[in-house]
Amino acid sequence: MKITVKTGKMEAMRIDAAILTIVEGEKLGPAAARVDKALGGMVLKLIKREEFTAKAGSVCLIYPEGKITAERLIMVGLGKRADLTPDRLRLAAGKAAVAARNAGAKNIAVAPEGFSFGPEEAGQALAEGSTLGLYRFLKYKSKKEDNGKKEIASITVLTEKASQINALAKGVRTGEVIAAQAAMVRDMVNSPSADMTPAVIAGIAKGLARKHRLKVRVLERDRMRRLGMGALLGVASGSVQPPKFIIAEYRGGGQKPFIALVGKAITFDSGGISIKPSDNMDKMKDDMSGGAAVLGAIANAAALRLSLNIVALVPATENMPSGSALKPGDVLRTMSGQTIEVLNTDAEGRLILADALAYACRYKPAVIVDIATLTGACRIALGQEATGMLGTSDTFKQKMREAGETTGERVWELPLWDGYCDLIKSDIADMKNAGGRDGSVITAACLLSKFVEKYPWVHLDIAATAWTDKDRPYTPKGATGIGCRLLTQFLLDFEKKN
Ligand code: BES
Ligand code: MN
Ligand code: ZN
Repeated sequence: MKITVKTGKMEAMRIDAAILTIVEGEKLGPAAARVDKALGGMVLKLIKREEFTAKAGSVCLIYPEGKITAERLIMVGLGKRADLTPDRLRLAAGKAAVAARNAGAKNIAVAPEGFSFGPEEAGQALAEGSTLGLYRFLKYKSKKEDNGKKEIASITVLTEKASQINALAKGVRTGEVIAAQAAMVRDMVNSPSADMTPAVIAGIAKGLARKHRLKVRVLERDRMRRLGMGALLGVASGSVQPPKFIIAEYRGGGQKPFIALVGKAITFDSGGISIKPSDNMDKMKDDMSGGAAVLGAIANAAALRLSLNIVALVPATENMPSGSALKPGDVLRTMSGQTIEVLNTDAEGRLILADALAYACRYKPAVIVDIATLTGACRIALGQEATGMLGTSDTFKQKMREAGETTGERVWELPLWDGYCDLIKSDIADMKNAGGRDGSVITAACLLSKFVEKYPWVHLDIAATAWTDKDRPYTPKGATGIGCRLLTQFLLDFEKKN
């Protein structure tokens, strides 16, 4: 899909669908007002009769029948001005693009107006909202009729002010890059575990390195052994798929300290010997969402040429039961030297992250951010509306909160108090990997906190947000690609400040 920016009048565009953005309870913007006039007041009439409310994400499709050159007119609501954030425009763009596609339109134009933030942000929101909203996962559909023969081929973003073209186009380009990477993350997470093994993820990382300015290395089992990564190796011991430890480095920041991004990539979480019930076990292909997100984010950083140094670390393995599998009661020695008693082999994410976080410390990073589908309890606590956040750095937690608001991938903090950390004391090892049901989002984070040394650290639990059971504004049901845009925004904001 091609997105271009140009000046022009909506009522004179030869296109399949014209899209107008409309603010609830306000007078029409200039493009909408002219289209309304050409249609003999139809737009205002629909609003007056409340057939079109202009509430956030509401859409209305009409056929102008020659009164304007476009074959269809789609009005999309931005909601009330007080709530009009870039995320509202992203939502509107997603809804309008999907409505246009459903109607069979191929080439569409949108005249974004009515908001008060800058044209660059608007361009980015439009590109992201439409691309993410139109996303489909069709790789395993073999029949043409299931295969979405309807596709949007081009979107023209129209402005009446020539002075805005450059900023709009810059935003569109940023949005296209970010949305493409988020779509890659969705593809990875939607893929069956048989086709998204640790080796496949390593191959994808290598592919990103060929395409962008990234350096990627993949450590194999013998290297992990020499590094003392007993926790990652322990989790991997039940699987026939060899584990991979993926290291992607982006150096765009000269002498600046590194930012370390660590993503959990369990390509399938059966629970291991502490096996999960079979209901919904299929969803456990999404347990590599954190790893996919950090690869997407570092690719974005490279594509946008941020002046930062970043390392993405992805411990990748399956968690399977077998004769050679990790067993409850086993004690693992981690790369940091600390030992962990395994009470539940299904609490495997924190094990592989323990070694990856220790590895991250080698970079003496300015901040470590880890992202993981870590605990089912996070869904009990926050539902699918927010990612759980814990950590040791108030400054970076605040930055993450802001990135969450900007991207719509919102985070909510839980406390990391000492009392919780007492719950993972072990009788025979330095700690145990499961602390019972009480506060288990937090006790999981407590374990991670023991592997980040003194480096500022933020942990994101995406167990509930990596997947959506229902269609959302610009997120069709399935993998959400969460974290990719959030971390990219965190990096963009970091670059501005440093
Ligand atoms: N990958 C799961 C967490 C998860 C659960 C993600 C549901 C998405 C949906 C994780 O490895 C896990 O199994 N956690 C256990 C920990 C427990 C055994 C201490 C959990 O949350 O039940
Ligand atoms: Mn598990
Ligand atoms: Zn898991």
